[in-house]
Amino acid sequence: MKISFAAPRMPRSGTVVVAIMEDRKMSPHAGDLDKQSGGALKRAMENSRFTGKADETLMIPGPPNLDVARVMLIGVGKPRAGDRIARQNRGGVVLAALNAAGETNAAFFVNAFKGKDTALAAADLAYGARLRSYRFDKYRTKEKPEQKPSMKELTFLVDAPKAAEREFEPLDKIAEGIFLTRDIVSEPANVIYPETLAAAAKQLASLGVEVEVLDEKQLKTLGMNMLLGVAQGSERPPRLVVMQWKGNPRAKNKAPLAFIGKGVTFDTGGISIKAAGGMEDMKWDMGGAGVVIGLMKALAGRKARVNVVGIAGCVENMPDGNAQRPGDIVKSMSGQTVEVINTDAEGRLVLGDALWYCQDRFKPQFMVNLATLTGAIIVALGHENAGLFSNNDQLAERLTAAGKAAGEPLWRMPLGDAYDRMLDSDAADMKNIGGRDAGSITAAQFLQRFVNNVPWAHLDIAGTTWSKKDAPTVPKGATAFGVRLLERFVADYYEGK
Ligand code: BES
Ligand code: MN
Ligand code: ZN
Repeated sequence: MKISFAAPRMPRSGTVVVAIMEDRKMSPHAGDLDKQSGGALKRAMENSRFTGKADETLMIPGPPNLDVARVMLIGVGKPRAGDRIARQNRGGVVLAALNAAGETNAAFFVNAFKGKDTALAAADLAYGARLRSYRFDKYRTKEKPEQKPSMKELTFLVDAPKAAEREFEPLDKIAEGIFLTRDIVSEPANVIYPETLAAAAKQLASLGVEVEVLDEKQLKTLGMNMLLGVAQGSERPPRLVVMQWKGNPRAKNKAPLAFIGKGVTFDTGGISIKAAGGMEDMKWDMGGAGVVIGLMKALAGRKARVNVVGIAGCVENMPDGNAQRPGDIVKSMSGQTVEVINTDAEGRLVLGDALWYCQDRFKPQFMVNLATLTGAIIVALGHENAGLFSNNDQLAERLTAAGKAAGEPLWRMPLGDAYDRMLDSDAADMKNIGGRDAGSITAAQFLQRFVNNVPWAHLDIAGTTWSKKDAPTVPKGATAFGVRLLERFVADYYEGK
């Protein structure tokens, strides 16, 4: 779909979209159209339940005295200047309604705000529409045209179209990062496995990201036996992807920011095998790695003035004759030994070595890892918030604030010695599970044993990586939850510093 910005002019075809505030109060553009059409907007509202609440829509086909096929009303409630998420959602809702109506071509009269906010409002609406337009349909070969999204061109009518375009440019780059994440998370595990996940990351070289891919031999030399133990039951060899974006060569603090993702391209559970029902979901157990790769694309795409390291630990967790057994003891890169009680608690084994490697090599300002780590976080928080665990209050507060601003909320969970002790083992330095209680917290405690006191946060995104229903800017399927949040986190606190 093509998105563009133009000076306000009455379109001659397609759909024209105008805003209505709460209690059917018309925006200036809506008022104009109502007059021209002999009161068609007012009549349509009065004959429906549409009152102008946020994100209500009403289609008015064949309005009198106008050349367009339809007028679409979009409710904006009591608009709050500067509420960017509300505007992005509105853009997504409008696009979905246009597709549902089978429209191909629409123009949206953007309400004027004071100062340059109008340009930003138009850009936000466009960004929301762009995000909602995502569709993973490459394997649908028999779809009829009427089953595909109809919209081809969406224009935002705004007084300063050039300024709106400039505001939209970086947002469109972020959307490209988000779409990369959604693509690789949506791909099945026969297509995305450690080598091909690494190959997808390699593509970022064209944007100036330095990408290294460590193979099995190199991981052995480094002593990453926790990660290798997970991988050993699979025909697909593991990879560790290291990405560096050096966007701020003059940074005062040379230490980079670091983001680390769990990239389990398929999680059968290994010998502690999962039940068959729903196991296909485990193709998105590489969601953390997908977010890190998409985040690097977003930051590099908009040339963020910041130095960032992205690491993805890529393995497939399979049961076979060479698979790791419950009770096996492995020595991690940190030197600590781990008794693997449950081979399905594999994400922490992969991340433990990746986190240790990251702090050892890069001495970062902090590390933020993302992982579809535990089913228990879904029990605790459902699909609305991701779990946040951190050893550093400032980092946790910044992440929480960025999540709120980006519409990807986090909820902080506790850590503590009593939880940590649940991982003690009689046979080794620790076990990889703590028992049934507090499952998400003991998983986080496990990770914390590998961060070497570096400021660190862990985002458990098991409940937010995949969605079963459409949301305004997130069609059902892979959400890329984390890219918007971390892009915002970097922009608000670290860029240009
Ligand atoms: N990848 C799963 C967690 C998961 C579950 C993600 C559901 C998304 C949806 C993880 O590797 C896992 O299997 N965790 C176990 C840990 C248990 C064995 C301690 C779990 O949550 O059951
Ligand atoms: Mn598992
Ligand atoms: Zn897993």
